[in-house]
Amino acid sequence: MAKLIIRGGRPLRGRVRVGGRKNSAVAVLPATLLADGVSTLENLPSIDDVRVYADILGGLGCDVQIATAASGNGTITVNPAGFSPLAVPHDVTKRLRASYYLLGVLLARCGRAEVPLPGGCDIGLRPIDQHLKGFRALGADVVIEHGMVRATAPALAGASIYLDVVSVGATINIMLAATLAEGTTVIENAAKEPHVVDLANYLNAAGARVQGAGTDVIRIRGVERLNGCTHSIIPDEIEAATYMIAAAATRGDVLVENVIPKHLDPVVAKLHEAGADIEEEGDVLRLKMNGRPRAVNVKTLPYPGFPTDAQQPMTVLLSLAEGTSIVTESIWESRFKHVDELKRMGTSIRVEGRTAIIEGVERLTGAPVRATDLRAGAALVVAALAAEGETEITGIELVDRGYERVLEKLNGLGADVAREE
Ligand code: EPU
Repeated sequence: MAKLIIRGGRPLRGRVRVGGRKNSAVAVLPATLLADGVSTLENLPSIDDVRVYADILGGLGCDVQIATAASGNGTITVNPAGFSPLAVPHDVTKRLRASYYLLGVLLARCGRAEVPLPGGCDIGLRPIDQHLKGFRALGADVVIEHGMVRATAPALAGASIYLDVVSVGATINIMLAATLAEGTTVIENAAKEPHVVDLANYLNAAGARVQGAGTDVIRIRGVERLNGCTHSIIPDEIEAATYMIAAAATRGDVLVENVIPKHLDPVVAKLHEAGADIEEEGDVLRLKMNGRPRAVNVKTLPYPGFPTDAQQPMTVLLSLAEGTSIVTESIWESRFKHVDELKRMGTSIRVEGRTAIIEGVERLTGAPVRATDLRAGAALVVAALAAEGETEITGIELVDRGYERVLEKLNGLGADVAREE
């Protein structure tokens, strides 16, 4: 188990460059299998989830080349010429939620998909009924047997699909499956997250006909084939949000570079309310925090609401605020697991169902803690940076899944972080 040892209490100061968006990269990577030609993806984050996906594509016979530029940006070239639809092994899909996108892709490409039920972070029930409902509407036969999803469809045909819940994963999976289907597919009550738009942009650049991504109605006119193309993954707004929250929690002054400020509007609004001074210039956001944060209430919602993936780090900032904050988690049923660990550091947080009532305290103190999921790990890192004394965080592999070069980026901002394997 890897651990981070953080000596806290130093305000973060300086510049940090945000990488490509994890949840976009893990959707666009499988989409390259739909193309007949070579795809080149730029601005890929250097994170474990991307490496696992690259291994999956390699295991399916694709030629995958990864290069890292001096700036740290990754580029991946996927040539699917040698692709053969082998069974996807359990061990990799257990590590990666987004392995479920192989269902949509393999169904579209081969008329058949056998993919183990996905793993990923343990943040409560994570059903995929809306994905399966979409595949069935497109004409697939879908069964779950022995932990595998088996889907078959000699030919997919466009259909109208109304999602019962706004699901990022189901929206993306149905888009992937419908791209090569006969006729037009309409997804209503679709997710509007920026990475849904990013995937649509990749698909359209490769020859697909996807309209309306970013609104709640997406129309996909099936095409016969896709070519490869070159596409740059959008910046990761959750990584950016995490650094901004860490800067606020340590009362620092940080320039977060390579962001699309619009994507961060809900986070910026709440940080502003909490007392942070935030300036925007081009693709840079500068956050300065003087003094103690103010208490604010936060409710997570699908985009453009406050993102659930930034909720856990945000609770840390609010645990240092003057007054009482209420945080309501409306996406995941069990996304407060970090709270028990935070208590070891002196926070005063009461969780009732999907609500956390946070009485702000004046200071946190370092303690041994354990990351239970990716964003819980990020929250503990923020807490450790703000706390007095030393914090040892175990389970840091979970953080490596979604944050690139954490040690280098934090130490570049003046933090005191060491890593032990
Ligand atoms: N849901 C259903 N049925 C479905 C699908 C979803 O009931 O078939 C429910 C879920 O239980 C949840 C809600 O719908 O209550 C939203 O789930 P969604 O499908 O949008 O989540 P996801 O696609 O599985 C992605 C991200 C998550 C992020 C959520 C919400 C990836 C690989 N994962 O998950 O990211 O929290 O969207 O924005 O894109 C993370 O990065 O830490 C992370 C967990």
